[in-house]
Amino acid sequence: PIPVIIDTDPGLDDALAILLAFASPELEVLGLTTVGGNAGLAHTTRNALRLLHLIGRDDVPVAAGANTPLVRQDAVSAAGVHGDDGFGGVPLAEAPRGADARPAVQLLVDLIEGSAEPVTLIALGPLTNVATLLAAYPGTAAKLDKIVLMGGGAQHLGNVTPTAEFNIWYDPDAASRVFASGLPITMIGLDVTHKAITFAEDWEPLRAQGGPVAEAVTGMVDFYTQTYRENLGVEGTAQHDALAVAAVIAPELVTTSALHVDVECSGPLTIGMTVVDLHNVTGKKPTANVGLEVDAAAFNTLLIGRILAINAA
Ligand code: BDR
Ligand code: CA
Repeated sequence: PIPVIIDTDPGLDDALAILLAFASPELEVLGLTTVGGNAGLAHTTRNALRLLHLIGRDDVPVAAGANTPLVRQDAVSAAGVHGDDGFGGVPLAEAPRGADARPAVQLLVDLIEGSAEPVTLIALGPLTNVATLLAAYPGTAAKLDKIVLMGGGAQHLGNVTPTAEFNIWYDPDAASRVFASGLPITMIGLDVTHKAITFAEDWEPLRAQGGPVAEAVTGMVDFYTQTYRENLGVEGTAQHDALAVAAVIAPELVTTSALHVDVECSGPLTIGMTVVDLHNVTGKKPTANVGLEVDAAAFNTLLIGRILAINAA
């Protein structure tokens, strides 16, 4: 299996992404690192621990990282979409343990250096921890196989402002450094995540199956469906982060183009915008493989099928 580390801010769609990763024999999840984003770091760390407890994986290390962005002071969490606790108030049993004693960046270093095979880093939240790793341990970061990140957009630009996607908007300085790093990057942005909508009825087989995972997931999906309807006027939900995990499990699901990506770090209208040179007008060399098309039906089959399987296990 592909060794992966998931940097995450759970988060309703992060939760499904993490479950998909653990349900997939193609991946070996070495650890989780948490970041503030959808909710504050205390919530996102607790949620990561509670989720692993739900699936009996208290053995997997979870280390807490950055609570706040590298530079910007005015980023606000996404409580309107994910609830104050990041999990829409869905009740999950507390984990019998706390976070790893190591800071997130140290756990990243230990896991990347300790892996026999190059690790894929899957980044599902603001890129603060990832940028910190790149700055403090460039030699270790260079050993990564690649970074697959959920964030940004090339044509479908924004969900938190008209021009910015939440993860990039929350810490644009971190994102800018990551895209400039020269490491292999796959960008799973709104262009593809909003083409891969799951609908309420898609989750009915899971609801019918019952059991603790099914109850947690359908509770989360129901909350997320309601916030999508109220905030975005969208029927159904984009499982953004799960698509990034799926792109590691089955890369053929997403069609990418190698493009130059820059991030706008200031600007009253455009802070957090990924500026993607779709037509290579700058002549600059590509910095990311940007997802532009997705096989939505195959993604939904994979996501829901694997979560049914982990629930039944
Ligand atoms: C991204 O922002 C967060 O709210 C989600 O968890 C996802 O990572 C979508 O823009
Ligand atoms: Ca996320």
